[in-house]
Amino acid sequence: MSTTGPGDGTRSVHGGHPPAVAGTPLLAGPVFAAPYHLGEGADFYGRAGNPTWRALEAAIGDLDGGRCVLLPSGMAAISTLLRTLLRHGDTLVLPSDGYYATRQLVRDELAALELEVREIPTPGPWTDEVFAGAALVLLETPSNPGLDVCDIAELAERAHAAGALLAVDNTTATPLGQRPLELGADVVLASDTKALAGHSDVLMGHVSTRDAELAQRLERARTLSGAIPGPFETWLVHRSMGTLDLRLARQAENAAALVSALRGHPAVGGLRWPGDPDDPSHAAAARQMRRWNGVFRFELADAAAVEEFVRRSSLVVPATSFGGLHSTVDRRAQWGDPVAPGFVRFSCGCEDSADLVADVLHALG
Ligand SMILES: Cc1ncc(COP(=O)(O)O)c(C=O)c1O
Repeated sequence: MSTTGPGDGTRSVHGGHPPAVAGTPLLAGPVFAAPYHLGEGADFYGRAGNPTWRALEAAIGDLDGGRCVLLPSGMAAISTLLRTLLRHGDTLVLPSDGYYATRQLVRDELAALELEVREIPTPGPWTDEVFAGAALVLLETPSNPGLDVCDIAELAERAHAAGALLAVDNTTATPLGQRPLELGADVVLASDTKALAGHSDVLMGHVSTRDAELAQRLERARTLSGAIPGPFETWLVHRSMGTLDLRLARQAENAAALVSALRGHPAVGGLRWPGDPDDPSHAAAARQMRRWNGVFRFELADAAAVEEFVRRSSLVVPATSFGGLHSTVDRRAQWGDPVAPGFVRFSCGCEDSADLVADVLHALG
């Protein structure tokens, strides 16, 4: 928890909202505009700028501790960053166990760049050879779906010593859970589709950095690519972010209760949650994370056992996202992740812990 300034709840509620002016709405609505009246104002055309974007960018940038550039999804954030930073023949370090679409993007869509790609598991080994000659090191910690953790501060220092930039995909942690820029990362990015928006009704992403020139290049890339966030979606995310602190607290409480209930259960293996003091990632996570979230994982015997678990549960639904109000499970092997067929990523929602624990124990039989 930050020792200076307002707390997480206050920042979630008030972030990015303008000072009170009598007679104006408490929560301003989205601004829908293609062209603007030309003149002194900040905006001239909706592809280049929008006050609804700037309000959410101010809120997220304040939490991240940098300047935020909003993009219409997490993948838009990742692809805009990679296309902006990387040149033909560059060396890129990627997590081998992170979100699979990032690896697909690099392999398929960025093939013309002929990058040298080094895919490294999040726990390492982080040898000197990994960093040698690299232009960019992209970490994902905690990783999705394995929830392994690496040391951002140490790896940022080593990347910088080798002349590389270091970026962190902060999706699972959220900016309340982890502040990579404060730990030495050059860039933090996230899919705000997940816990930050948190209601399973909108996609959004962002990149934040303290490098003003890089932020400008990313904004220019957004303007010229034309892949821009919709004002209504942006407004929805901003409205939803007001409860991020509350939702994360409940989700983490539910994860702690479920992990404790499932530990030692005969049907459950490979139980991992960085917030669990017995988890192999816990010490590293506790050093750099500010608070926990509701995403944990475990393994059942096989795909049929997961199917049966979902069928018997009345609260948990199968869905391939996480961080939302509703508890969801995702059997990751179905998307091609290199995990066992019975591997489940469980995203705790905001239901009551007692109800969720009872339902999950019943569903496991
Ligand atoms: C870690 C991580 N990064 C990026 C993404 C992509 O985000 P989006 O679906 O908003 O494009 C995801 C989506 O699941 C993710 O889990």
